[in-house]
Amino acid sequence: MNHLTHYWTADDAAIARAAAILRAGGLVAFPTETVYGLGANALDPTAVAGIYQAKGRPSNNPLIVHVNDDVSARSLAAAWPASAAALTAAFWPGPLTLVLPRSERVPDIVTGGGPTVALRSPAHPVARALIEVAGMPIAAPSANRSSELSPTRAEHVRAGLDGRIDAILDGGPTTAGIESTVVDLSGIVPRLLRPGPIPLAMLEALVGPFAMFDHSSGGPLPSPGMLERHYSPHTPLLCLESIDVEMLMGRNIGAIVPAPTGVSGVIERVIIPTPEAYAERLYDLLHELDGLGLDGIVAWMPPDRPEWLALRDRLRRASFGS
Ligand code: TXA
Ligand code: MG
Repeated sequence: MNHLTHYWTADDAAIARAAAILRAGGLVAFPTETVYGLGANALDPTAVAGIYQAKGRPSNNPLIVHVNDDVSARSLAAAWPASAAALTAAFWPGPLTLVLPRSERVPDIVTGGGPTVALRSPAHPVARALIEVAGMPIAAPSANRSSELSPTRAEHVRAGLDGRIDAILDGGPTTAGIESTVVDLSGIVPRLLRPGPIPLAMLEALVGPFAMFDHSSGGPLPSPGMLERHYSPHTPLLCLESIDVEMLMGRNIGAIVPAPTGVSGVIERVIIPTPEAYAERLYDLLHELDGLGLDGIVAWMPPDRPEWLALRDRLRRASFGS
């Protein structure tokens, strides 16, 4: 890999240049409302192969295709069930990804060779402008090296992928902060593959009960991205259901806490303890604390309640094996 990576503030001129790179088969990182994505022309298998190479991503882990509306989405799906119509009407554009039977237009490399395709219409104005100006669906995973933390700022993308991609569009920090909710609508019963910013209860209110993936069953993963260790900092992360002040004393650690602990020496970051506020800050804080050469990071694990499902999932994965 030996790219000169352009780093541009995401104004109209930069978006036009980035769109030209995508049309020429190149790789562009761009902001979405969840995390930054690493985009390529979803209909160009050679361009998409570059994503896997830049990230070091296993080729069996399929990509999300980003579109601006349900008309484009339907042209990439072989079926569009009533559940897809109801969920897209309510939540698109936004942080919701639908897995549906793929149409023949979608290259194998996008789907990992499987029979389904993941589709999302992002809400971020820069993502939408890029799709519009490039005039194509954009395949984009999170813009990080495989198994590392997702980027919520352009600087995070640069730290991980500089020299490996063609351009980074800087649109400031993302707001939802964690990756989209992923729902599989290809079977008889909808299934939650990845909890995210849109709570399960809001989805179920529209299309009825979901099947959940049971991590303990030991069966094949419905989505390769469900690998336990994922989205991790390099520094060991320990999640605590309650923060024990004694435990923090005298250690070279960082702490993400819902209220100040006052323990001297601990690098403390206080978050507002609501699901939205914690999600917005979580990866940013993990990136920051990960860069400080600490022996460990402790983070407040929110209560085991439905509104915290996605945050608990990300914290658990980020700490797995630590
Ligand atoms: O918020 C997001 O979803 C961000 C932004 C850039 O849109 N993207 C993102 O992509 O998080 P990625 O590749 O990091 O995660 C996509 C997840 C993975 O767990 C992948 O395995 C799963 O979606 N996935 C993609 N296509 C699938 C398919 N056809 N069937 C099942 N799972 C799929
Ligand atoms: Mg990812």
